[in-house]
Amino acid sequence: MPQMETLHDAFLDELRDAYDAEKQLLKALPKMAKATESDQLRTAFQTHLKETEGHVERLEQVFGSLDERVRGKHCDGMAGIIEEGKTVIEEFEGPTLDACLIASAQRAEHYEMAAYGTLVAWARAMGHEDAAGLLQQILDEEKATDEKLTQLAESGINSEAARAAHGEDEDEEEAEGASGLRGVASMAGRSGGVRIAAATSGTSGRGGSTSSTSRSSRSSSSSSSKSSGSRSGGKKKR
Ligand SMILES: [Fe+2]
Repeated sequence: MPQMETLHDAFLDELRDAYDAEKQLLKALPKMAKATESDQLRTAFQTHLKETEGHVERLEQVFGSLDERVRGKHCDGMAGIIEEGKTVIEEFEGPTLDACLIASAQRAEHYEMAAYGTLVAWARAMGHEDAAGLLQQILDEEKATDEKLTQLAESGINSEAARAAHGEDEDEEEAEGASGLRGVASMAGRSGGVRIAAATSGTSGRGGSTSSTSRSSRSSSSSSSKSSGSRSGGKKKR
């Protein structure tokens, strides 16, 4: 009999993918917690590690509620996100690293939010109410973690990283840019679906994308020297 012919098959496939993604995060989060110098960010990663253990357990309950054997299927998407996260740990340090770690973590969260959003919707559509309830609980925790990371990024980590890149005189400009985008992120964050992934992580986590935007809007002669200055500010010396 051919595989994947019904929505139920696709649902089970997504569940196995999510289960494997959580297992991968169980290994990655301690490394991220170890890499940061920020106590608050470390605590956030450690808290989410505990939650992730709970997500694995809930997913096992979901399999049970469907009379299915607990099984993972390698999640290439999460593997790629984690691999990129490893690269930033090697390349950056200090507040720049913290901003980049938040960016990586938010990519992982948004990937999971998209997956669990789909799983909840499919479970409901097929009448798997117990599964839908458990999956919704996981989704809510992923969203809360994402919001916590946005808060951390915007309550000092991004501006500290920006200061390391651009110097004190540009604090105000950076702050203005960040607050302007914050509204977009929170609006998008409520709209649900895939669009939020790009909007929120681009705003809050990616100090790099914000600063490169403001760099490109400056006059060319000073922007090239600032650009190279920013590299030495946050890059690890080899
Ligand atoms: Fe999770």
